[in-house]
Amino acid sequence: MMRMTGQEWVSIGTLHDIPQRGARCVRNGDMTIAVFRTADDRVFAMEDKCPHRAGPLSQGIVHDGCVTCPLHNWIISLETGRAQGADEGGTATFAVRLEGQRILLALPCGSAAAVAESCDHG
Ligand code: FES
Repeated sequence: MMRMTGQEWVSIGTLHDIPQRGARCVRNGDMTIAVFRTADDRVFAMEDKCPHRAGPLSQGIVHDGCVTCPLHNWIISLETGRAQGADEGGTATFAVRLEGQRILLALPCGSAAAVAESCDHG
């Protein structure tokens, strides 16, 4: 039997909902996913959890295809979720794409109903 890795594209808002070089958070069950927008309007998504000590990457600074964790300044690649430089570790990434201005996030099938947008950057 063929196994399918079931994913579905879930609309999570528009590009304008995210400040340039910023992020917004999407809840998916127990997980918070940070969706980032770069200065040149590319979007990336990864778990909002630094591989070092689980710092909130959504509150970090976006630069050069990376985000710097607000807690201890680890630099995480937005594309791969991997820590850069001498630091080791990684964060789960999610496929995300733009359809016009609309942002679509790939989530495992069935989890879409659990998605509720929240944006607590306080
Ligand atoms: S928790 Fe991110 S650098 Fe320490």
